[in-house]
Amino acid sequence: MNDFIFHTPTKVIFGRSAEAKLGALLREQGCSKVLIHYGGGSAERSGLLGRVREALKKEGMTWVELGGVVPNPRLSLVYEGIELGRREGVDFILAVGGGSVIDSAKAIGYGLGSGGDVWELFERKRKVTDCTPIGVILTIAATGSEMSSSCVITAEDGWRKLGCTSETSRPRFAIMNPELTMTLPDYQTACGCVDILMHTMERWFYASGGMELTDRLSASLMRTTMKHALILRDDPQNYDSRAEIMWAGALSHNGLTGCGSDGGDWAPHKIEHELSGLFDVAHGAGLAAVWGSWARYVSRENPKRFVSFAQHVMQVSGAGTDQEMALKGIEAFEEFCRAVNMPTFIRELGIEPTEEEMREMAEKCIAGLHGPAGKVMKLNADDIVEIFKMAL
Ligand code: NZQ
Ligand code: ZN
Repeated sequence: MNDFIFHTPTKVIFGRSAEAKLGALLREQGCSKVLIHYGGGSAERSGLLGRVREALKKEGMTWVELGGVVPNPRLSLVYEGIELGRREGVDFILAVGGGSVIDSAKAIGYGLGSGGDVWELFERKRKVTDCTPIGVILTIAATGSEMSSSCVITAEDGWRKLGCTSETSRPRFAIMNPELTMTLPDYQTACGCVDILMHTMERWFYASGGMELTDRLSASLMRTTMKHALILRDDPQNYDSRAEIMWAGALSHNGLTGCGSDGGDWAPHKIEHELSGLFDVAHGAGLAAVWGSWARYVSRENPKRFVSFAQHVMQVSGAGTDQEMALKGIEAFEEFCRAVNMPTFIRELGIEPTEEEMREMAEKCIAGLHGPAGKVMKLNADDIVEIFKMAL
């Protein structure tokens, strides 16, 4: 078991009408000018943004707004937000939306707090020194960005999708009302469920350390997520299942399921970020499309954690060699993906990367990491091209 630091300072306000507490939460933060940041229209259509504006008005707060965040959020809008924030003296950013909106808010916060060209922080040329405080009203359970220390942005110049992690970006509060996720298209609900699972799966596949309590918590989180993903497939308005999934999403990426290990593998995420960077696919669907191929490729080398995944998470029964058990677990997970209408091959995303594009993505992945991807097996660019080919 490894030593660890567990730091989750985000105050969670969970349940029906949780957004009614917004005014009091902002007052607690002592901010004077808020930037309300949102996406492409769902929060306006649902009436949520209207309620947010009313809450700020009631508190006598001033604010500016910047909408238009797209999935796989873009650097150009981040620059616009930083410019707006500087001009208007913004001292708090309220993200109303999903992972893309929250990540865009964090990047704007980095730009305002750390100065200079914000992209240099993603390129690891400089370190984050500060981030303007962030608050979140979550509308999709998926990324866990509402409690996480990371954000992922795509630069249109070269379609490079890079992450930037800093404790300073963990949101001060996260309002989570499961009812707000009931307007989601089924596809986005399923993408979210896969992403939630993957955040714990990435941590499950560690190379060193680990502890029984974390394994048991993780297995329970994954099993609960799969159960309620299937319920939501048939009954999307089920409040209790929405709530289970929403809480699982936050816990899956706040560090809890990584305690005691080396932090996990994360190669599937790095590989997927190249796919969604270049082809603009939904992150959760991209993960589902590449995971099985990654798993087959690396489990040949190191099946140990795949065997325990098969037994404790997918609850595969029967005997077999390590290799056979590992494969059974991988197949069972792919079966779950298909059951919630998620792809298990890249082509099912409606794209067909060429040989050159697969090479480009693999090289960009390694360059972005400044080294090999993954821990269970350290992958170089050739390995990643192979995985893309298997996943086609
Ligand atoms: O833009 P609007 O109109 O709001 O539509 C969004 C968007 O089209 C829609 N949506 C959200 N809430 C809705 C809704 N539609 C109807 N009703 C609602 N209540 O859903 C679509 C997807 O939204 P998005 O925010 O893009 O989804 P998600 O939360 O999955 O975020 C994906 C982004 O987060 C990154 C991903 O790479 C991707 O860029 N990630 C961020 C992480 C982090 N910061 O910790 C970790 C993750 O691994 C991930 O990489
Ligand atoms: Zn993810």
